[in-house]
Amino acid sequence: MTKGILAVYPGSFDPPTNGHLDIVSRASCLFPKVIVAITKNASKKHIFPLDKRIDLFQKITKNLKNVEVACFSGLLVNYLEKINSFILIRGLRAISDFEYEFQMSLMNRKLNKKIETIFLMTDQAYTFISSSMVREIAMLGGNVADFVPDCVEKELKKYVIDLSRKSYTKQ
Ligand code: PNS
Repeated sequence: MTKGILAVYPGSFDPPTNGHLDIVSRASCLFPKVIVAITKNASKKHIFPLDKRIDLFQKITKNLKNVEVACFSGLLVNYLEKINSFILIRGLRAISDFEYEFQMSLMNRKLNKKIETIFLMTDQAYTFISSSMVREIAMLGGNVADFVPDCVEKELKKYVIDLSRKSYTKQ
């Protein structure tokens, strides 16, 4: 356990998946406290609003006592500075993730040289799961039960039903 260090696991988590849960669980064994920092980024089109993403992440991490869920807007490095953290946790699923993650980690370090990014390898069972694929499968009526925690699956189902009701009433 890395003493006294506050680690931040940032992302959009739209929605949180079993892969995200795997990463945060493992980070919580390595650091005394982990903050899941969910971006408010308005330029991205999210299916779940920020409060729903926070609520879902809180639910799925309720048994991880040293994990807290928060949100941030603006630059991640500024958020880290504000909460006095210099450790970023990111999950790596495959080589294809590496280029983007490498660039982001170098950029964050350029913006603030104290920042270190620590990559945790996603468990093999989750390497093919991504939020964007889960969203697409759910929207097209597919089964996402193997990819997300139960409460997330329920919310996705609700979202799809609400969406189809709205498009039905529009016709
Ligand atoms: O889950 P994601 O979408 O891969 O997470 C990306 C995230 C939110 C970590 C990244 O886009 C980010 O840090 N956004 C905040 C704005 C910022 O600091 N951008 C510069 C990053 S180099």
